[in-house]
Amino acid sequence: MKTRLTEKLAIDHPIIAAPMAGTSGGALAAAVSNAGAMGLIGGGYGQREFLEAAFRDAGNARIGCGFITWSMAKNEALLDLALSHRPAAMMLSFGDPAPFARKIRDAGAVFICQCQNLDHVRTAVDSGAEIIVAQGTEGGGHGATRGTMSFVPEVADHLARNAPDVIPVAAGGIADGRGLAAALMLGAEGALIGTRFWAAAESLAPKGHREAGVSASGDDTLRTNSIDVIRQLDWPPGYTIRVGRNGFTDRWHGKEEALRGALVVEVPRYQAAVAAGDPVNSAPIFGEAIGMVHAIEPAGEIVRAIAEGAAAALGRRRRG
Ligand SMILES: Cc1cc2nc3c(=O)[nH]c(=O)nc-3n(C[C@H](O)[C@H](O)[C@H](O)COP(=O)(O)O)c2cc1C
Repeated sequence: MKTRLTEKLAIDHPIIAAPMAGTSGGALAAAVSNAGAMGLIGGGYGQREFLEAAFRDAGNARIGCGFITWSMAKNEALLDLALSHRPAAMMLSFGDPAPFARKIRDAGAVFICQCQNLDHVRTAVDSGAEIIVAQGTEGGGHGATRGTMSFVPEVADHLARNAPDVIPVAAGGIADGRGLAAALMLGAEGALIGTRFWAAAESLAPKGHREAGVSASGDDTLRTNSIDVIRQLDWPPGYTIRVGRNGFTDRWHGKEEALRGALVVEVPRYQAAVAAGDPVNSAPIFGEAIGMVHAIEPAGEIVRAIAEGAAAALGRRRRG
């Protein structure tokens, strides 16, 4: 399937695997890229050792990387480290990309910005983004409030009018061929997918979390701040994280102030639960698309199934 995205990234399928913090290591990114899509290493909250291991694990695969902008801005050396590995693409999300744009483009990486509203899109375009990911609130992990169904075409129209060379991509709630086909119908040139790859065999997410995830429904998620409070991550206002609803969120969602007062006891408890892969007392990070994910599968097979499903869905539409 050829789109402007496949041409820009020199890939076979218009699919990007999200750079998921703590989840997207080198093996996942490489498996996605080796199947003809684009895998991104999750630079996350920036540990040098993690990044070095991820690029090592990716071997010779043609992969990219992504950072949480506000976090990486505190230690720009991480961006330098990632760029020294000559990634095919670099994605920035959640913060002002402008200070880093020149460095990314000078390194020869395709510059991708993930955006949650039109203001973000304008800033990203002004910064020189070549690909804009329009992220809807259905998605797993951090995000904001716009829904994919209306945000994606609005971004596509905005880019067509104001920056026709910039390529729109859809994210949030896309997990199979139907979702990719729908994204293309909405004016996107491809999809960035997190949750489905979170559940992949190569994912670094705790096994216990993934096993719980594959039997969950899209009803079983919520957006909350409680997870950032317990992880002591200082997210800027306007963002929440979508996770699986569970014992922890039942106790603490909406009671973040009380949780702040109980950190001495609760942080070690939470960390122990994460280490044990306990899906009740630590939160699996997935989006509403989890309702379409029923098994832990190799990432390459996921890529192929989504691409084939989209081609079939689009073929049906043409015949119909
Ligand atoms: C486990 C997990 C971790 C994530 N971490 C990041 C991250 O570190 N940086 C980022 O830009 N986006 C992150 N995201 C959001 C994705 O980039 C993407 O917008 C989202 O997964 C798309 O929706 P979907 O989950 O329905 O596919 C994360 C998503 C998940 C599920």
